[in-house]
Amino acid sequence: MIRALSYVIVGTPNLPAWQKQAAEHIGLQVEVVEPGRCVRLRADQKVQRLLLEACEGEPSMGMGFEVGDAEELEQAAQALTAAGYPITRGTEQENALRGVAGMLHFRDPDGVRIEVAWGLADAASPFVPGRPLGGFRTGELGIGHVALITAHFEQMCHLYKEVLGFKVSDRARAPFRVEFLHVNPRHHTLGIAHTGGPAKIYHMMLEYNDFDDLGRAYDMALADPECIGVTLGRHINDHVTSFYLKNPDGWMFELGWAGRTIGPDWEVEELQGMSLWGHDRTWLPPDKREEARQILKRLAAQGMRAPVVTTSQTAKARQ
Ligand SMILES: [Fe+2]
Repeated sequence: MIRALSYVIVGTPNLPAWQKQAAEHIGLQVEVVEPGRCVRLRADQKVQRLLLEACEGEPSMGMGFEVGDAEELEQAAQALTAAGYPITRGTEQENALRGVAGMLHFRDPDGVRIEVAWGLADAASPFVPGRPLGGFRTGELGIGHVALITAHFEQMCHLYKEVLGFKVSDRARAPFRVEFLHVNPRHHTLGIAHTGGPAKIYHMMLEYNDFDDLGRAYDMALADPECIGVTLGRHINDHVTSFYLKNPDGWMFELGWAGRTIGPDWEVEELQGMSLWGHDRTWLPPDKREEARQILKRLAAQGMRAPVVTTSQTAKARQ
């Protein structure tokens, strides 16, 4: 039913800082809808991929998932209603702001706003990145992925798998329960983790087409090391090379490159760790950080490696 993560909606008390980071550091295109109130961020030819709205108090993040047409939106509406999720139809104003043809929204078991929409429009003008770069990998893969920490693991798994039709990519049971779910060839569109702590937004992943654009984002982060939430490293499951940049609201952007794609022959795996190398989580308590180091040492001793597969890079070698 769901085809991709189409866009993300952010409610932030730090709008000016978001605009600056989005354009200058990440390289997204900022389009001001209403100064100081509402901003669209573009990552490709679409009208928006992140919608930022100024708020007071607690920041929020919501996800907009794509369905193919009005009929599929009705199927989603019926499935959600049957599962006991009260839905609300998007108003004309909400749809226009997002650039979608139709939308409904509801709250997931943690209270996160989830939208289901179809017909996200192309913008009238070409994508102009905030800094020179070769664009973001989107298309049928959607804008990227989101990872959530949930306080309602079973209900969340039921919602996404049984109601919305996500498929499991892989999972880990230790040091905490996590499931990675896909809806298209992107290895995962959603990660759901149950750490025992309260629900929160962990990160949103954006994927550069070109490795050098990721390297430059890391250079910029190294000038202000406090903004690095997770150091450069490579994930064991989607094979993304990435680092995590703290955003002005305290949750993170994973800026990545060369995520692998998967097909119908995919077999669910039990993960031996989260990363092949790197990805030191600077925010973890010292004992958990040490545990992660030991896992990396074990994988290194096994010689575990993964091929780099990338098909969408735009850079050409210069003679
Ligand atoms: Fe991630």
